[in-house]
Amino acid sequence: MTVSYPRKFRNTLSARDIMKRVVKERELQIMTLNRYRYSEQRSCKDLTELIERLNGEPKELIRDISNHIVEESRHALWLTDLLIDLGEDIGQPTGISYIDAFEKLLDQEAYPTEANKDDTIIAALAAINATEKRGCELFAAHIEALKEAPQTEENIKIRETIERIFPEEAGHVRWGNRWLSKMAQKSPETREKVQLAKRRYFAIEQAAYESSDIMMGAEFRRIEHLMEISETMPLWERTQYLMKHIPETVFNPELQLFRIEMAQKAWQKDPKMFVEQFLPMFFNGLNQSDLERIKEKNRNN
Ligand SMILES: [Fe+2]
Ligand SMILES: [Fe+2]
Repeated sequence: MTVSYPRKFRNTLSARDIMKRVVKERELQIMTLNRYRYSEQRSCKDLTELIERLNGEPKELIRDISNHIVEESRHALWLTDLLIDLGEDIGQPTGISYIDAFEKLLDQEAYPTEANKDDTIIAALAAINATEKRGCELFAAHIEALKEAPQTEENIKIRETIERIFPEEAGHVRWGNRWLSKMAQKSPETREKVQLAKRRYFAIEQAAYESSDIMMGAEFRRIEHLMEISETMPLWERTQYLMKHIPETVFNPELQLFRIEMAQKAWQKDPKMFVEQFLPMFFNGLNQSDLERIKEKNRNN
């Protein structure tokens, strides 16, 4: 079965563009590897919690999730080994966390508990599927970028580690797809629930992924995703959800601090590059429609 990747959103850098930059800067590449390590390790904890919540049924699903945990834990181990071999830090990653942003948007733990068991399974499978697809997209782009990068001993080692992980990540997308279609076949009602859950968790994942986007206009793009998420909710929950998350998105002090920190780092490192590359890249994040919206907002104030 082929792995389908999330569509590229307008005005955001593609995974390939991002990874081309990542492999050029050692510090950035090490930071990225440590983030992978953290995510792999964290997913073991979240999947274990899901098994506990399922409490023994369905057995086949619990077997698949158990196997999934084995694979995620060895990915964490391979990345831990790699970072230690390279003499690097394996502490908590700094900056905005994708997993925390994902859970914040769910308003609860990693995989939601619904009143009905089928609903819990569908929600968990859709959430896992959305994040696994992102993992595949990033790993594939990272491998490609490393093939084009200078073939240093370190880069070869990093590529070999990601190449070992990648086929198992593609397998995680496949088992999720298989279970989602199995649930959809249960009844027309569950089919509809599966479609809605896929749309919902796709939008949540996209918003979480873009939460560390420091480009100008990122807040507007996030609000668009919040609207998409709310459209998958019952009418009476929509307003409450938007009222909670829109202010966090627009006035996100973490994002502002991260922006300043990144700008300072780029400036200190290479002022010429800052002016020629960082600034245009930063403002490119703001497209014409975002500018129109800012003007409109200012007119209304
Ligand atoms: Fe993994
Ligand atoms: Fe995975």
